[in-house]
Amino acid sequence: MNPHLRDVAIPNDWDRRGLPGWSYHSAALLELEKEHVFRNHWQIAGHVCDIPNAGDYLTMDVIGERALIVRGKDGVVRGFNNMCRHRGSRVVADSQGNCKNALVCPFHGWVYNLDGTLRGAARPRSFPDLDKTEFGLMPLDLEVWMGFIFIRFRNGGPQPSVAELLKPIEPEFAHYNAADMVPSWGIWTQKTPVNWKSVRDVDNEGYHVAMAHPALQDLYGATYFDEPFVNGVSRSFATYNPHAGRRWSVKNYVKIAPEPAHLPDYLRKAWVYYGIFPNAVLSVMPESVQFYQEFPLSTGETLLRGAIYRYRDESREQAAARYLSFRIDRDTMSEDVQLSVWSNESMLSEAFEGFYLSDLEYGVRTHHDHLRRQIPVLGLETAPEEKDMWNLNDALRSRS
Ligand code: FES
Ligand SMILES: [Fe+2]
Repeated sequence: MNPHLRDVAIPNDWDRRGLPGWSYHSAALLELEKEHVFRNHWQIAGHVCDIPNAGDYLTMDVIGERALIVRGKDGVVRGFNNMCRHRGSRVVADSQGNCKNALVCPFHGWVYNLDGTLRGAARPRSFPDLDKTEFGLMPLDLEVWMGFIFIRFRNGGPQPSVAELLKPIEPEFAHYNAADMVPSWGIWTQKTPVNWKSVRDVDNEGYHVAMAHPALQDLYGATYFDEPFVNGVSRSFATYNPHAGRRWSVKNYVKIAPEPAHLPDYLRKAWVYYGIFPNAVLSVMPESVQFYQEFPLSTGETLLRGAIYRYRDESREQAAARYLSFRIDRDTMSEDVQLSVWSNESMLSEAFEGFYLSDLEYGVRTHHDHLRRQIPVLGLETAPEEKDMWNLNDALRSRS
């Protein structure tokens, strides 16, 4: 079977420069990104198996917003702002846990039911007019797709439902039964000292694999190809080489990884990455499924976050393969961190004249195009004044 999902023609003549360098260091632009790209686009919060029981919760603090995902007594997974309606405290403090029967605010003790409704204020007689029905936790848009929990901080947004958005990859992704998976090692986070777009730019192309990722090159080398972003979704595909193995982890992975009978032939040795605009990737390997994503902490610092999920009834060989693919991935990630640092810091130099992208980096271009559509000020080669950024962008948006 043809391993391509979509055949996207690369134009003969395209602008290879990438986003302007100033956009990687502008605080005013970062506010536009939060407004037009992060708050109103779908974000992966985790997987339903991270919160299997009633009262289990997870939280996600990103871009100045706080999400709380909690499973109700009815088994339903709901999303809220992790913000008490009394004076705004966090309702839960930890990144993951179980809250038994109710969410009790640690500040003054207001109590919320697991479905977000307010059960009651502490010392209720001190609020003679409190209408409890008006003070439930504020809900977030939430959709579960193949087990993955997607939330949106602002209700509504430029994207369709997650089911609609990810329809192009659904038939392929469905082979992995991701909804039935369980956590491997939990949700991880890590900081990296670059603009979030530099992280994404590195991840959106495989041109650098041969030079910069010896283990990946050993594993799948020339079989790798990218399908660029179309309507918010990209895909990269590679199959590992059964004869690979100059590196310890690769040699053993290729030797140990069992033949996954539940997958169609063309996926049995495949590593596939699905990019989801603006900042996330779902990736599948024969023995595991994972997500990773990035959120800006400032113009020059980014939070990386992700998790790996495994089959509930995995064999010892699958478990070993999962550990080895994790090792290969971990090395790859630290190599990418270094590359993104070098690329990102150049944008502060007077000598930086923009990218000059290869046809093999067309995925970077299409991601930038998606960003430009939301934030047209990114089309300006010269940095606008920081104080004018917001109004200028609004004016350009209303023109398009
Ligand atoms: S802020 Fe939550 S009870 Fe006061
Ligand atoms: Fe990389």
